[in-house]
Formats: sequence, structure tokens, C-alpha cells
Amino acid sequence: MTHYLDAPIDRQSAESLATQGLRFELVDTSDAAAFEAWLQAEARGFHDGVEGADIIAAWVEGLSYRRTTGVWDEQAADAAAPVATVSSWSAPLTVPGDRTVDAWAISAVTVSPTHRRRGIARNLLEAELRTAHSLGVPVAALTVSEATIYGRFGFAPSVMAADWTIATRRATWSGPAAHGRLHFITIDELLDQAPALIERVRLASPGQIEPWPLLLRRLLGLLGDGKESKTLRVVRYDDVAGTAQGFALYRVTENESEMFGHTLDVVFQTSATDDAYSGLWRFIFEMDLVGEVTAKLRSVDEAFAWQISDFRAARKTTQRDHLWTRILDVEKALEARLYSAHGTIALEVTDALGYADGGFLLEIADDGSATVKPLIGDVPENAAHIALSVNELGALYLGGVSAVTLTRAGRITELREGSASAVDASFRSAITPWLSIWF
Ligand SMILES: CC(C)(COP(=O)(O)OP(=O)(O)OC[C@H]1O[C@@H](n2cnc3c(N)ncnc32)[C@H](O)[C@@H]1OP(=O)(O)O)[C@@H](O)C(=O)NCCC(=O)NCCS
Repeated sequence: MTHYLDAPIDRQSAESLATQGLRFELVDTSDAAAFEAWLQAEARGFHDGVEGADIIAAWVEGLSYRRTTGVWDEQAADAAAPVATVSSWSAPLTVPGDRTVDAWAISAVTVSPTHRRRGIARNLLEAELRTAHSLGVPVAALTVSEATIYGRFGFAPSVMAADWTIATRRATWSGPAAHGRLHFITIDELLDQAPALIERVRLASPGQIEPWPLLLRRLLGLLGDGKESKTLRVVRYDDVAGTAQGFALYRVTENESEMFGHTLDVVFQTSATDDAYSGLWRFIFEMDLVGEVTAKLRSVDEAFAWQISDFRAARKTTQRDHLWTRILDVEKALEARLYSAHGTIALEVTDALGYADGGFLLEIADDGSATVKPLIGDVPENAAHIALSVNELGALYLGGVSAVTLTRAGRITELREGSASAVDASFRSAITPWLSIWF
């Protein structure tokens, strides 16, 4: 099978962009000057300033594993700088049942403000989907800047995220006591020890994706001048046997007007066991001099909300879509995950881009595994039967979005009464999907 880095540029989009005098090409990431120009264009596309040489050097080293694509305009004053960027790679995405599916991760979608709304992004996205499909990757995934862009390409939100604020003076710990030990460790120790744990934890939540190599260093503020890293503290939780089972990375900001009202920002927290989760969050909530804890990009269903004396002391200040998924191969995608209840479900899927269009029969065995076949002839008598677009299928895929809600919203049609509940019984994940990173 072709490796994603060897996939050629998509001819259809190259020809379409050429009609506007634009060149659509892959970037040779071993050519430092070309890759730097692309990275600066991406930064400009996201309205960042000109990146410093140290940051660019880190990205050049750390992002070369991605398939890196750009669009150039020979008439531009700086013709070496792309006017549009996108990058992609294939990565395991956790699906219900402690399994993963091969996902086409898309990132760095930018079009220069000088070239906006001429269909460049459409060409980029459609090229990505064609390339992923040609390589047999069954699902595409991205985290998005705006919720208005990707629905038209068949994506839908499947994993939500919440930013939490906890008023710790009101949040007396009422959860279980943890029996392990906490240790402060250095940033170097974290870099050494955390990846193996993060890898283990990744399989526990549908929606998690393999972290990109520079992620931890970025969270630690080590890209660039490293100043930010000096304000961080790292704590590790070891279970009673002395095995590391979790980490928390946090920063405390002083409140000058209120002596005991510092704010503790949890930059990253991960735990492999419920015991480690309790140990770390209790430690965070009971920090002296701190009045408020903030934690961004967390699950919408955090257990800590149930582990404090005042339920209203932990608030979701923001809850929004985070991971968007797009099914490219219905059979492969649906067979990759496990289901919560056995049964038969007939799906009539529409997809304007064609990949997922058609009728499918999903047969779920007692062990939760499924087989998917084209729907031919009559729908079996005992089957649930729904009509939906590829967007809704992408939303349902990881088990965090309700078919009943989508039916009430008019986005799924029940072709047999009661089908949406049956779909939920099978599709819903016992663990609320969560993605702890941006990519
Ligand atoms: C978002 C962005 C990539 C769009 O690029 P673009 O080349 O102007 O988009 P296109 O001209 O190809 O537009 C394709 C379609 O998307 C729509 N669209 C594009 N950007 C949109 C937006 N921000 N909100 C809503 N619709 C948008 C267009 O109206 C068009 O719709 P249609 O074809 O259904 O009529 C570009 O505006 C950008 O770089 N924004 C800043 C960085 C960013 O947010 N990137 C996305 C990261 S996830």
C-alpha cells in the first residue's frame, strides 16, 4: 500500500487551480528554505506574526512527517511564499471498543486573505479527501477554527470539548481517597516518562488521536525561547506499587488584588486509572493560595464534577465541537469499531461527494463486532432503518452524538419507527468521546 508521504499531488485540483494561474504542489520538506516559506505562510494564514528562526527550526524538524501541500501564485510579489497551505498524515484514531481506525488527519488549512473565496480551500479539501480515499483510509478528521467551513465537505462534529472553571474554595473534595503518591518532576523527566503513558491512555477514550511528535514540547513552552516553560510545574502520580499512572502540568498566576485568589491553569492532565485521576485532581483543587482552577479542552463529562461538595463550583465556561470526522469508506469505518448492543441497522446514506453514498446493512454480533454489507433487496424485518447524510454518519461514528437528537433535529429520518433509539443503543459509547489535543 502506498505510504501517505508518497501519494502524488491530486491532478483534478491541480488542473482546477491552474485555470486561475495557481500552482498546486507538494513541498519537499527536506528542502529547508521551501519548507520554511510554507511554515511562514501557514503562520500568516492563522494571523500569527512572522515566526522566529528558532520556532521555524523546531517545526522544520518536527513536522516533516506530514504530507505538506501548498498553492503558489507566480504573479505574487513574493512568489516563493505559498498563498495556501494544507498538511495531512495518517494516524490512529480511537473508536469505541479500545480499537483504532486509520484516520486521515488534516491540518494547517489556510488561504491567504489576498486570495480568499476563490475556491482554493475547496480544491485543497477535495484533493485531501480524494487522496485519502485513493489510499484506502476510511475516515478523515480535523480540528477546526470555525464550525461553518467543513460541513459542505461531509464532515460533522463527533467529539465535543469543554473548558472548565472550578471555584476551589467551594469545591471540597468528596471523591474517593487516592492511595498513591505525588512527586514533582522536571520537564525533562516528563518528556522522558509521559509519552508511554499518553500512548496507553489514548486507547481508553474514543476520539483520541496519536499525538504529534512536537506536541509535548509545545505544551511545555519549549519551542522558541523556552520562557513559558519556566512558569510550569509538573507533578506525577504513582500508584501504591510505585508505577507512574498520571501527570499534571500546570501554571499558577498570582492575583495581585487578592492574596489567596491565585489562578491555577491546568495545561495538560492525563491519567491511566481512576485512582490517579482522583489523586491528581484532588491535589489541584486543594492547592493553597489558589481560588480558581481552569482546565481547557477537557471532556464534557469530567468525573471531577461529581467529586466535589458543590456541584455548581465546577462550571463549563465553554462547550463546543472539537473533532470533526468524515466517513470515506462506510464498510471499513463501521467495521473498525465495537458496538454497545447487538442488532441489525439499515442505513441509507447520501453523500454529495459520492464516497459514502448508498444503502448499507450493519449487522452487530453479540460480542459487539459488526459486519457491513451493501443493502440489497428488502430491509430485514427486525432491522432499524434510517436515512441520513454522510455528515450525520460522521457525527454518530464515535458514539458521542445521539441519533434521537439528530432525528428530533430533522437531520436523520426514521424509516421505521423507533429506529433512532435502536441506533443509539448500539452506537453510543459508554465512555464519552474526548480529544485532548489540537492538531
Ligand atoms: C477558511 C479558509 C481556509 C477558506 O478559504 P477560501 O479559499 O476562502 O475558501 P473557498 O473559497 O474555497 O470556499 C469554499 C466554500 O467554503 C465557504 N467558506 C469558506 N470559508 C468560510 C468560512 N470561514 N465560513 C463559512 N464559509 C466559508 C465558501 O463560502 C465556499 O462556499 P460554497 O463553495 O459552498 O459556496 C480561509 O478563509 C482561511 O485561511 N481562514 C483563516 C484560517 C482558518 O481558519 N483556517 C481553517 C483552519 S481549520
